[in-house]
Amino acid sequence: MAPTSVNTIVAQGGAVAMKVLENAELQNKSGANPSERSTRHIEVQLPPGITYRVGDHLSVVPRNDPTLVDQVARRFGFLPADQIRLQVAEGRRAQLPVGDAISVGRLLTEFVELQQVATRKQIQIMAEHTRCPITKPKLLAYAGDDDASGDRYRSEVMGKCKSVFDLLEEHPACELPFHIYLEMLSLLAPRYYSISSSPSGDPARCSVTVGVVEAPASSGRGIYKGICSNYLSGRRVGDTIHATVRETKAGFRLPDDASVPLIMIGPGTGLAPFRGFLQERAHRKSQGANLGPAMLFFGCRHPDQDFIYADELKAFAADGVTELHTAFSRLNGSKTYVQDLVAAQKNRVWDLIGKGAIIYVCGDGSKMEPDVKATLMSIHREHNGDNADAATRWIEDLGAKNRYVLDVWAGG
Ligand SMILES: Cc1cc2nc3c(=O)[nH]c(=O)nc-3n(C[C@H](O)[C@H](O)[C@H](O)COP(=O)(O)OP(=O)(O)OC[C@H]3O[C@@H](n4cnc5c(N)ncnc54)[C@H](O)[C@@H]3O)c2cc1C
Ligand SMILES: NC(=O)c1ccc[n+]([C@@H]2O[C@H](COP(=O)([O-])OP(=O)(O)OC[C@H]3O[C@@H](n4cnc5c(N)ncnc54)[C@H](OP(=O)(O)O)[C@@H]3O)[C@@H](O)[C@H]2O)c1
Repeated sequence: MAPTSVNTIVAQGGAVAMKVLENAELQNKSGANPSERSTRHIEVQLPPGITYRVGDHLSVVPRNDPTLVDQVARRFGFLPADQIRLQVAEGRRAQLPVGDAISVGRLLTEFVELQQVATRKQIQIMAEHTRCPITKPKLLAYAGDDDASGDRYRSEVMGKCKSVFDLLEEHPACELPFHIYLEMLSLLAPRYYSISSSPSGDPARCSVTVGVVEAPASSGRGIYKGICSNYLSGRRVGDTIHATVRETKAGFRLPDDASVPLIMIGPGTGLAPFRGFLQERAHRKSQGANLGPAMLFFGCRHPDQDFIYADELKAFAADGVTELHTAFSRLNGSKTYVQDLVAAQKNRVWDLIGKGAIIYVCGDGSKMEPDVKATLMSIHREHNGDNADAATRWIEDLGAKNRYVLDVWAGG
């Protein structure tokens, strides 16, 4: 199944076809201590008229994995190649392609999220389509309004990230019809990736740095594969993806004045935009600009495994484009995080902040960014002798002035 026509999700989001120019593994897979994870460096050709600036994002339209699509189709008694025609009830808004014949495989590949956690409402609908006297109460036990149902739902479904499909597999007696299943799913959403290159090299190509989400499924059913990261990981050079450039929030930009000091904090794939920043700074330097000081704090597990772009970063440091501070969290049994190195460099960090530095934080927004913020606030308190409220006002004020700027997302 290789549909070529552009679907409505692609068209509405303004995504265009982009050719994959490079897809390379960034983690070290050889040697005595190889990495078991994968981070991909993916470059695409930007079509004429599409431009970007460092700090922008690439919004990528994913496609569901063919194996999963096949399993879902078969659960409902179809083969992916089977053709169906969807109709919409009068007065209802059609989100899915209605009217024309379309294959079950294409519908499931391009239009709907198949792996999102099942909601209680969805489980209620599953129960309504279940006659089996054993299965029906099992499903209803997650969907009731009482506290016990809520607890059961949180621990058994939400806590284990079970999708509607996971529950259908667990409960073969559920007779949910295919059209109701389709109706209850969310439309497949594009995923954002921080662009990890600068247009100063070649404005017609850009790269993204993609952490591939793959781990034993929390549901206990096989391996969980994130949709878009695995889709991108599997693209070959010459393949086409659909994507578009999205402008970053105003603050996550390099200042026009190259002499403004920078503090960049980006562990893991949070490094992505800073690679673009550093390429841009190197370019400005080559054009004669006087670069202000820059500190890059990068963190990863082990120098032998996931020190991505290590040679490039070391070369930027050697050329005076940035200072490089690297925190290894799984080396020699001691856990060092980026915020530990920020704390260790507190005098220099404080000095640069006093000189007007912009602080950029990129990567995990659930734990890393709050921890980094707390470290910066404690440095402020140490120097000013203020209380916690004053430190909070200080960091909020930096944020309001676009001097504490974030490009963060919730990890897996
Ligand atoms: C502004 C922004 C910038 C971003 N930049 C980057 C970037 O530069 N690089 C990058 O790699 N990512 C980046 N991301 C994240 C990226 O957009 C995707 O969210 C990420 O690639 C995961 O998407 P996916 O489709 O592969 O996974 P999905 O299919 O969306 O799956 C992820 C979901 O699966 C759940 N999950 C994870 N592991 C398991 C498991 N073992 N069992 C069950 N469920 C699980 C997670 O809780 C999560 O809800 C960015 C996000 C934002 C918002
Ligand atoms: N990049 C990949 O190859 C990859 C592959 C699969 C899945 N993912 C998932 O994608 C998400 C982001 O991945 P990533 O590559 O950006 O990061 P990551 O590799 O998970 O983490 C980067 C570094 O940040 C450290 N870290 C963990 N908690 C932190 C905290 N509170 N403060 C500061 N540093 C912290 C990690 O240490 P420790 O882990 O040692 O604590 C590691 O050294 C994660 O949820 C990850 O599980 C990534």
